[in-house]
Amino acid sequence: ERQKHIRNFSIVAHIDHGKSTIADRILELTDSVAPRDMQAQLLDNMDLERERGITIKLNAVELHYHAKDDQTYIFHLIDTPGHVDFSYEVSRSLAACEGAVLVVDAAQGVEAQTLANVYLAIDNDLEILPVINKIDLPSADPDKVKKEIEDMIGIDASEAVLTSAKVGTGIPELLERIVTDVPAPTGDLTAPLKALIFDSVYDSYRGVVLSIRVVDGVVKPGDQIKLMSHGHEYEVTEVGVMSPKAVQRDYLMAGDVGYLTASIKSVQETDVGDTITSAETPADKPLPGYRKIQPMVYSGMYPVDNAKYNDLRESLEKLRLNDAALEFEPETSQALGFGFRCGFLGLLHMDVIQERLEREFNLDLIMTAPSVDYHIEMTDGTEKVIDNPAQLPDPSLIKEIREPYVKAEIMVPNDYVGAVMELAQRKRGEFVTMDYLDTYRVNVIYQLPLSEIIYDFFDDLKSSTRGYASLDYEISDYRASDLIKMDILLNGEPVDALSFIVHRDFAADRGRLIVSKLKEVIPRQQFEVPIQAAIGNKVVSRATIKAYRKNVLAKCYGGDITRKRKLLEKQKAGKKRMKAVGNVEIPQEAFMTVLKLN
Ligand code: GTP
Repeated sequence: ERQKHIRNFSIVAHIDHGKSTIADRILELTDSVAPRDMQAQLLDNMDLERERGITIKLNAVELHYHAKDDQTYIFHLIDTPGHVDFSYEVSRSLAACEGAVLVVDAAQGVEAQTLANVYLAIDNDLEILPVINKIDLPSADPDKVKKEIEDMIGIDASEAVLTSAKVGTGIPELLERIVTDVPAPTGDLTAPLKALIFDSVYDSYRGVVLSIRVVDGVVKPGDQIKLMSHGHEYEVTEVGVMSPKAVQRDYLMAGDVGYLTASIKSVQETDVGDTITSAETPADKPLPGYRKIQPMVYSGMYPVDNAKYNDLRESLEKLRLNDAALEFEPETSQALGFGFRCGFLGLLHMDVIQERLEREFNLDLIMTAPSVDYHIEMTDGTEKVIDNPAQLPDPSLIKEIREPYVKAEIMVPNDYVGAVMELAQRKRGEFVTMDYLDTYRVNVIYQLPLSEIIYDFFDDLKSSTRGYASLDYEISDYRASDLIKMDILLNGEPVDALSFIVHRDFAADRGRLIVSKLKEVIPRQQFEVPIQAAIGNKVVSRATIKAYRKNVLAKCYGGDITRKRKLLEKQKAGKKRMKAVGNVEIPQEAFMTVLKLN
């Protein structure tokens, strides 16, 4: 029976431990297309793709491996995104597998992201196959790493595969072990269809292309399917596998990993983690683990040139076609004009979006400092959620403000525990617990406000531990805090886009720092500009930017016109990413100063 020859697995690792290199080696030693029948189809498909310019993200590839037992096995290698911002997606990709290849660097040992990923794999009941990589390094110590895996993860590592992905050692053994150690899928072919969506991308010709794992039943073109979270129905237009290019199939059945299209217009309809079932004979329960993704970090995005507002909207709409996690809605700022409030999974996600807008869509943007969302209980008993500090209601109407907290796990060598605790305390952290993982490594757990983490926590952590600490976190809950809004006034006018929310105990300090930092980054104007930080009507800090008449042409002594033009051009380029607020020119850095206060 076919399922017996299928192995679905992921590779999990800490960053840089060799996940991609091992995947490349596995691809080299397997056939990515079944030799006989697929060749023609594959070429057709490739030409078609080339013609239409379709590129599909490679996230699950089907491989064929001829094992020592003389049988051919179908491997589905499922890729997972590697950053804390995306841990829900990682968890859904893992849910599509029966096994996880756990790669640990033979010199570095187990690190925070190793643990975070392996916990996700264990949560999904996967068989963990430990691999110790980079055994070619002089500093490699596989026995020590085996012991770490056993002590810290609690799985038997005595049989761990030793590899050097760089040289290629151990990879044939790894392939055999995938066959023997990763369980075959055991879905019920005759049961109603249940398939897990673990990724979705938008393609302008086919609509949304879903990456799916069929758990029970069979799905084929022409079938009427239903997405269980919202009940919408679609007709399947195509199913297939990535091998590594899209190869059409007549059907996908229980145990298979592949893609499915059904003329679905937007990835917003196809949440990762949702269950596909048959519209005619639906399954009674969806697969477990589905969660609606929620942004954690919000920022205002404004075009430097107000005339580009519609371009920005269109570009955001295009990006959203392929990014179900990106949220945006129009917002107006007195200071910055018309823009969008955008929600992101985290700062990395935010950087990626900003960079794509600037590079691919050629937009110059001003982004306001990222903020978290606050739950506000009003004195009249109503509740408000805000994600823009400027919207904080009048303090006299507020009963309580709650902010998101995260459970942060920081793994660090013994010697730096003091430094980590000092830092976490300074960031309003509440100590939870501390585990000695072995004689030299400690896992320190803190509850920390998300707003403190999204600022400079990670950088501070790295610098106070000489880069040895690793960090992983997830939202735990919302907690009441004594928070207030700090306004920044330029030239006596409050600039709404510079307002921020801060804990009362840190307000005075942060106000002072921001004012002095703004004084550095806002260039001199033709008139004096007072900067003030204020809580309500009370000014807590002030400074003044001196007037400066910037007459570049004066240096040219009249004569040389090319030199004159060059200077003018230089001045113009320097002006990019400046935004006129009232009559003051504010550079992009000014909006991010709140992120970089040290
Ligand atoms: P991310 O994609 O950033 O998560 O990293 P990764 O885990 O995929 O690691 P990647 O495969 O990119 O390897 C990281 C670095 O380690 C690269 O410079 C590799 O060349 C190197 N590397 C991978 N395997 C080995 C190995 O077996 N020995 C040695 N010496 N270097 C290796």
